[in-house]
Amino acid sequence: MMTIWYGGDYNPEQWPREVWDEDVQLMDRAGVSLATVGVFSWARLEPRQGEYDFGWLDDVLDLLHANGVRVDLATATASPPPWLAARYPETLPVTEVGVTLSVGSRQQYCPSSPVYRERVRELVVRIVDRYADHPALELWHVNNEYGCHVSHCYCDVSAAAFREWLRAKYGRIDKLNRVWGTAFWSQGYGSFKEVMPPRATPTFRNPTQLLDFDRFSSDELLACYRAEVGIIRGRSSLPVTTNFMGFFKPVDYWAWAAEVDIVSDDTYPDPADPDSPAYAAMVRDLMRSLGGGAPWLLMEQSPSAVNWRRQNAAKAPGQMRAWSYQAVARGADAILFFQWRQSAIGSEKFHSGLVPHSGTDTRLWREVEQLGQELAALSGRFGDEAIGGSRVSSTVAITLDWDSWWAIEQPASPTDVSYVQTLFAWHRALTSLGLAVDFVRSDGDLSGYRLVIAPAHFAATDAQVQNLASFAETGTLVVGFGTAITDENLHVRLGGYLGEPLRRALGVWIEEFAPPAAADLQRFGSGKVPALPLDGEVFGGPAAGHVWAEYLRVEDAETLATFTDGALGGWPAVTRRQTGGGAGWYVATLPEPVALRRLVEQVALDAGIELPSAVASGGQVEVVRRGGSLFVINHGADDAELLVDGTDALTGTSTLGMRLAPQGVVIIVPVHVGDGRDRAAL
Ligand code: GLA
Repeated sequence: MMTIWYGGDYNPEQWPREVWDEDVQLMDRAGVSLATVGVFSWARLEPRQGEYDFGWLDDVLDLLHANGVRVDLATATASPPPWLAARYPETLPVTEVGVTLSVGSRQQYCPSSPVYRERVRELVVRIVDRYADHPALELWHVNNEYGCHVSHCYCDVSAAAFREWLRAKYGRIDKLNRVWGTAFWSQGYGSFKEVMPPRATPTFRNPTQLLDFDRFSSDELLACYRAEVGIIRGRSSLPVTTNFMGFFKPVDYWAWAAEVDIVSDDTYPDPADPDSPAYAAMVRDLMRSLGGGAPWLLMEQSPSAVNWRRQNAAKAPGQMRAWSYQAVARGADAILFFQWRQSAIGSEKFHSGLVPHSGTDTRLWREVEQLGQELAALSGRFGDEAIGGSRVSSTVAITLDWDSWWAIEQPASPTDVSYVQTLFAWHRALTSLGLAVDFVRSDGDLSGYRLVIAPAHFAATDAQVQNLASFAETGTLVVGFGTAITDENLHVRLGGYLGEPLRRALGVWIEEFAPPAAADLQRFGSGKVPALPLDGEVFGGPAAGHVWAEYLRVEDAETLATFTDGALGGWPAVTRRQTGGGAGWYVATLPEPVALRRLVEQVALDAGIELPSAVASGGQVEVVRRGGSLFVINHGADDAELLVDGTDALTGTSTLGMRLAPQGVVIIVPVHVGDGRDRAAL
C-alpha cells in the first residue's frame, strides 16, 4: 500500500493541554495520518539561551503516536526567539535601504549570521538526539519556507559573507572587474574590501553584481539548510525535506531539489482568481519535475481562506477537494494543510484551519472528513490501480532556469517581462490540449522528450545553448523571444542576438528588439500594452502577439507567420527549420492565448505527439493521467458530461455519460485493451 498522507501543520503550543486530546480524536475522525510539528516552537523549546524544555514536545509526539498519527518533525529554526536579537542584534536582517527588521513577527534572522547558525546548530543537535528514534517520526522538516520573508539580507555580516563568496568565485579582483563589466560608469574595484552588496544606489545597480547577489543569497539559504541536514543525517536515516513555495524567485530550487529526499510544496491559489486552477497545475508540474518525476508532498494549502491577501476569498464548497485531487493527479502523495486547528490568537487567526473556529458542525469540517476518508480508501489501491507512488509521464518539457528569471526581470532591460507569466502562457496552452508537461533545466537531460520549449531563456551559458541546439537535431525545439541575449555574466552575445549554435539550429537571428512602445502605453492611459497583429497558417489566420517583438532575420528557415502592421509589418514572427531528425521553431513574440494554443497544436503535431481526444464536454475540465488512472476535475461553473467509459475509483460507478458538477472529480480506472492503451484515453 502506498499511502497518500493527509493532515497538516499542528501547533499545539497555542492551545491548553485539554484541547490536544480533542485534537487527536478529531484527527482520527478526519483520517489524519501525518502532522507537521514544531515549525514555530523555538521560543518554547529554548526559552532562554541554552535552557531547553522538551517535555511538552515529548507529550505531543507520544500522544500522536498513541493515536496512529505519524510525525513530520520540524527543526524549529524558522523563527528565532526574541532573546537572540536582544543578545545578538547583529543577527537581525537589514533591507537594501538599510532598515533593520525587528522582532515581534517571524523569520527575523540574517541567513549569513554565524551566531544564528551556531544557535541553530545547538538546537538541532538536541532535537535530533532526542527524537531521532521516536517511533512517531516519519520525516524531518528543516526550517520552513526558506527565504519567504527575508531572502536577501544587506547587513554588514552579509556584506562580509558576500565578499568571501566572490573571492571564492573569482579569486582575483581583476577577474571580478571583467565579469561585472565595471569599466562601465567608473565602477572598477581595487580590492574585494571595496565591494558591497547591491544596497540602494542613486540609479541602476551593476547587473552582474545584482545577479551574483541573487545567486549568493540562494546559496546562503542553502548553506543554512545543508548545515541542518548534516546534523540530521549523522543520526537518522529518515527522509528529509524543506517546504518549497512553487515558482519562488529568490531561491534556485534546482540546486535545492538535489538535496532533499522528497520535494514538498506550499501552494495557496486564490479562490477568487479564475486563472488559479491553471496556474496551480503549473506549480504542481514543477514540483514533480524538481524531484525528477518522483511523487512529492503538498505540504501546505489552505482548507478555505487565507488571511494575507487584501481580500481573502473562501474556497467554494468542494474546491478544497477538487484542488487537492489536482495535486494528487499531478504527482502528490500527500495532501497536507496549514493548519490543523484554526488559531484563536496571533496574526493568522483569520486563516482557515481544518478545525474551524465554528467547530465540527460546519460545511468545512464535513468536507475535511470526506476528503480524509476518500484519500484513505485510495491509499489502499495497489498494482495497476495504485495512485500513491505512481508517476505522470510526459513527452513535452518547458525549460526553466533561475539565472534567466533573475536576469530578464532586472531593471534597465528592453521591456517589462514577467518570466513566470511567459512560462505560464506556454504551459497553459499545452495543458489545455490535454498534454502532460514537465519542467527541465536547459542544460538538463532532454533525451526523454519529443518537444522542448525554451521561452525567454535570456542569460544562457554556452553549454545550455549547445544542449538546446543539439536537441533540435532529433526532437522538436521551440525557442521563444528573448533567448540567449546574454551569457551567464550578462555580457551581450554580439553579432546578432541568439548567437551560435542556436542561429544555425534555428536558421534565424535577431537584429533588434521592438517590444510594444511605451508611447502607446501612455496614449492608451489604461496601462494595457497594445497587441501586435500577426498572420499565419500556424494561427489559422489573423492573431495577435504581446509583451515583446523582434526584427527577426531568416537565414535558413521557413516563415510560418508574420507581423502585419506598423514598423514590423512583413517581418517574420514564427519560423521553422527542418533539421536532420527534428525541427527548430522560433517565435519572436508571445502570441495571445487562443493563437498560442493553435500554434502549440501545430508544434505538437510536428513533434509527432498525438493530442488526447476529448474526455468530457462542457464545464471547464482538467484531465490528467497518473499511473493507471485518469483524473477528471471540473473547475468550471457548469456541469460537464463524461464521454469515456470506465469506473470511477471514488464511487465505483460507471463513467460514460456521467454528469460532473462544478468542483466535481472522478478518477477513472482504465480498462486495458489489446493495443496497450487504455480505453479512458481513446
Ligand atoms: C506559509 C507558512 C505557514 C503559514 C502559511 C499561511 O505557508 O509556512 O506558517 O504562515 O503560509 O498561509
